[in-house]
Amino acid sequence: MRETLRGLPPFPDDLPDFDVRSAPGDPVSLFLDWFGAAVQDQVPGPHAMTLATADAAGRVSSRVLICKDIDDGGRWYFASSSDSGKGRDLAANRHAAASFWWPQHGRQIRIAGVAGSAGEQASADDFLARPPASRAAALLGHQSETLDDLTALDQAFRRSQEVIEADPVLVAPDWTLYALYAETVEFWQADRQRRHVRLQYQRDAGPWAKRLLWP
Ligand SMILES: Cc1cc2nc3c(=O)[nH]c(=O)nc-3n(C[C@H](O)[C@H](O)[C@H](O)COP(=O)(O)O)c2cc1C
Repeated sequence: MRETLRGLPPFPDDLPDFDVRSAPGDPVSLFLDWFGAAVQDQVPGPHAMTLATADAAGRVSSRVLICKDIDDGGRWYFASSSDSGKGRDLAANRHAAASFWWPQHGRQIRIAGVAGSAGEQASADDFLARPPASRAAALLGHQSETLDDLTALDQAFRRSQEVIEADPVLVAPDWTLYALYAETVEFWQADRQRRHVRLQYQRDAGPWAKRLLWP
């Protein structure tokens, strides 16, 4: 296994340049640039991000989620059940971090800040924008609890589908659109010669500041 892992290339031969001197003053514009390039070059799942949370005792969890939106205020949005592991973590400890990895471009983006509900209406809008099967899945509840057998899941899924069909405007009460308010956003560009380039944006209460980081 060690040999196999050592033999795998971490980056492709052809990598884009990252001219930090012409980087915009805010990380959202740069994120949208890099994201647009990832979509254009058909990087798989460019909207999938890994979200890390921690509970009140500091025990950390991470999982992949779909990024639902980004706004000019530097908030990255994701949606889930407030009864899930991540929902419970965030209720106890609002600090969270997310990362994107786009292998074909050798690009990583790391976002850290505080996350909370984007509000009842925004959560309901997100739920109702989901296709019926996704709404039925979200209505199942019990996310990350023990499932005794797959038949129980099939039955619950069928019941959920019936409920959704009977009431197309029903919203799962625990469904939550979360906003991760970024305090730092780092753009990491791989380099074949390992002269990786890292640019971090930071803010407290005021405007964004930029700094380079040693690789
Ligand atoms: C590509 C991908 C996208 C996913 N998107 C979501 C999502 O948007 N919301 C969600 O709750 N779970 C999503 N999941 C499932 C989560 O990774 C995770 O299994 C689930 O949310 C339970 O995590 P938790 O117990 O830590 O809360 C996704 C998984 C994958 C692999």
